[in-house]
Amino acid sequence: MKIACLGGGPAGLYFAISMKLRDAAHDITVFERNRPDDTFGWGVVFSEETFDNITANDPVSAAAIRAHFSYWDDIAVHYRGQRIVSGGHGFSGIARKQLLLLLQQRARELGVVLRFETEVASAAELAKTYDLVVAADGLNSRTRGEFAQFFKPAVDTRKNKFVWLGTRQKFDDAFTFIFEETEHGWIWAHAYQFDADTATFIVECSEATWQKFGFGTMSQAETNRTCEGIFAKYLGGHPLMSNAGHIRGSAWLSFPRVLCEKWSHDNIVLMGDAAATAHFSIGSGTKLAMESAVSMANYLHSEPNMPAAFAKYEDARRTEVLKLQSAARNSLEWFEDVERYLHLDPVQFNYSLLTRSQRISHENLRLRDKNWLEGAEAWFQRLAGAGDNTIKRPMFAPFQLRDMRLKNRVVVSPMAQYKAIDGCPTDWHLVHYGERAKGGAGLVCIEMTCVSPEGRITPGCTGLYAPEHEVAWKRIVDFVHAETDAKICCQLGHSGAKGSSQLGWEEMDEPLKSGNWPVMSASATAWSDHHQRAHAMNRADMDKVRDQFVAAAEMAARSGFDMLEIHCAHGYLLSAFITPLTNKRTDEYGGSLENRMRYPLEIFHAVRAVWPAEKPISVRISANDWVGDQGIEPRDAVAIGRMLQEAGVDICDVSAGQTSLDARPVYGRMFQTPFSDRIRNETGMATMAVGNIFEPDHVNSILMAGRADLVCLARPHLADPYWTLHAAARLGERGETWPQPYYAGRDQLYRLSGSAEPVLTGV
Ligand SMILES: Cc1cc2nc3c(=O)[nH]c(=O)nc-3n(C[C@H](O)[C@H](O)[C@H](O)COP(=O)(O)OP(=O)(O)OC[C@H]3O[C@@H](n4cnc5c(N)ncnc54)[C@H](O)[C@@H]3O)c2cc1C
Ligand SMILES: Cc1cc2nc3c(=O)[nH]c(=O)nc-3n(C[C@H](O)[C@H](O)[C@H](O)COP(=O)(O)O)c2cc1C
Repeated sequence: MKIACLGGGPAGLYFAISMKLRDAAHDITVFERNRPDDTFGWGVVFSEETFDNITANDPVSAAAIRAHFSYWDDIAVHYRGQRIVSGGHGFSGIARKQLLLLLQQRARELGVVLRFETEVASAAELAKTYDLVVAADGLNSRTRGEFAQFFKPAVDTRKNKFVWLGTRQKFDDAFTFIFEETEHGWIWAHAYQFDADTATFIVECSEATWQKFGFGTMSQAETNRTCEGIFAKYLGGHPLMSNAGHIRGSAWLSFPRVLCEKWSHDNIVLMGDAAATAHFSIGSGTKLAMESAVSMANYLHSEPNMPAAFAKYEDARRTEVLKLQSAARNSLEWFEDVERYLHLDPVQFNYSLLTRSQRISHENLRLRDKNWLEGAEAWFQRLAGAGDNTIKRPMFAPFQLRDMRLKNRVVVSPMAQYKAIDGCPTDWHLVHYGERAKGGAGLVCIEMTCVSPEGRITPGCTGLYAPEHEVAWKRIVDFVHAETDAKICCQLGHSGAKGSSQLGWEEMDEPLKSGNWPVMSASATAWSDHHQRAHAMNRADMDKVRDQFVAAAEMAARSGFDMLEIHCAHGYLLSAFITPLTNKRTDEYGGSLENRMRYPLEIFHAVRAVWPAEKPISVRISANDWVGDQGIEPRDAVAIGRMLQEAGVDICDVSAGQTSLDARPVYGRMFQTPFSDRIRNETGMATMAVGNIFEPDHVNSILMAGRADLVCLARPHLADPYWTLHAAARLGERGETWPQPYYAGRDQLYRLSGSAEPVLTGV
């Protein structure tokens, strides 16, 4: 095969090597515009795992590369005058120039023709005389642009600015992050050793800080001198060096996130950064490039023809690339939003930094550095008031809201049961909530309990509008208090335009087949084409519903609930006031967000006035309507959080969606947690996270990173009322309260879970 590699970076060179290793008869030329030793940048990082793949492909080049590795195990974070070090991270670094020289040498040995200082004007031209053109022409790939109609690239230029510098100062004991506060804002460095006497020193900051420093108009030398001043105390008098001499003017960059719908066209295939980029902060660009090279070489030899090989290559690599890109996106967004976290205690800040890509879980950190993690856990427990010597996972830390003290951070999220009769809870509810309270969660939140018959979603919804409701709820609350140490929260709501619907397991969110009752909402809207139009509430209606909330809160107080939650999410009445999708009012309750929040806040104040002062109130919101800027977006949710906080709401329960049938949510693990994170860290308000959180590891990492104060799990508690106790047994955590009659089962479970010490008291 006659092959042209356009670009002599890691992708182009390693592909050439990999092809020659599989068949020495290939005729391969690498075209590179630069000279052999003329390369931008300083060092690159590999993880151990990456290197196993590379070693298996070509032990010879792997050994040569390994011989030049600098190794380090620790990550050090300088922040607010402290240097916090954690270990077990296992990285190696090499000079980019050295890596390329070794790959060039290996390619030459195998008979690859290397043509330096040769600019390729068009891949299309090469494609006429070569069987295969591999476009490995990097981040700013000209080929990607030349065939844009086929590759359909999407380039997302990110917000932060960075510059890739080097220094002779030693950073050989740890991969080092340095965060410095300056008169122009925060600026930070990512520093790591890559050979005996040189370290990479990438400086990064927000666009605003970059502007204020005037970096855009500085020469490279001026940038270096300015950065030396900022980071003087870490540089030991060593200068910062640039080797971007080939770039005119400023060497600062904005990271382009590249995705392409297709990677091949005719006999041209994209590889490495040309096809997809991964942010430098997870150090995987070179890995991606080299692994894609191996994959392509494999398929060109296993498949009957080039189109089949291209198809397999895209299939196999795209998932891997997307996984890495997703981790890289989390990481780059963390750095873009880092100012949100710069109030955190150094321990929590460090944890947040280490888990930013969401690839490293809580238990994975324990494997890396048990002592460090236990130190962080002890810090968390101390802060939670658990006592000085407690080392436990964060989910087992207590939490205090007003006078209510929760034994742990797990919440049974509210879930409608549709089993009430005329609004009255039944034995179903006693058994259901009783079981969940026995199951170990610190707080059990009951389903949306409606303030009037017409405020129910379905005929099966519970209420607090009749004396018998209060009696029935009191029986449940009394059971929970007598038999468990869980607390119980009452969620109060009104269905608005989503009312008069069928039970959850019938046709969900569809109107009743018969017996519909009139519904009201902020405006005269209908939930769907099948639903009746709601009556737009007038002042009298608003007063009436406010009084119903107050009466229900009084009943909840007499029933003995420990906490109240006002349901302002999911498109129900109060949510319909907040979102502009359903609030079309022209009075002081419509228009601006302040106006749209007015009625929900009126309800809150009225309820707060009758709810016992020692007991907390939360408000559940939909932090994202998932319809873009037509609806509520996360930045509005921060403003909502701020208003709730100012009103005296104790904690914000941050849900999302269910406000519009046009919503296009982006699902995934913990997909709503970023909204809780944002509200908590931008307003300082306590939050609850919810949504596809199902592993203890998720709960622990959310809490430890300061992304929420409490974590709600809904569906996992339908499948397993004992979710918390089971998690504790699996993790070997002691001290959670089991019901006395179940001690024998508890002891067996701990034994079977491998936490054999029979330290538990039992019958
Ligand atoms: C600040 C920073 C830090 C990074 N740190 C790391 C790290 O720690 N670990 C890691 O793995 N990755 C890191 N990367 C990413 C890594 O450098 C790239 O992902 C990797 O180099 C991609 O390899 P490539 O072969 O696809 O592209 P490149 O290395 O960019 O190679 C493309 C080559 O094509 C040549 N070329 C382009 N157009 C033409 C043309 N028309 N004619 C001839 N030649 C042409 C270019 O001169 C270049 O040599 C970092 C990137 C940046 C910006
Ligand atoms: C059967 C069911 C009923 C629900 N009912 C309510 C409810 O009454 N009030 C509420 O705020 N959320 C309700 N939700 C939403 C959950 O509280 C939670 O926000 C959502 O299920 C996402 O969490 P999960 O991924 O842990 O299930 C309900 C969810 C389910 C599955």
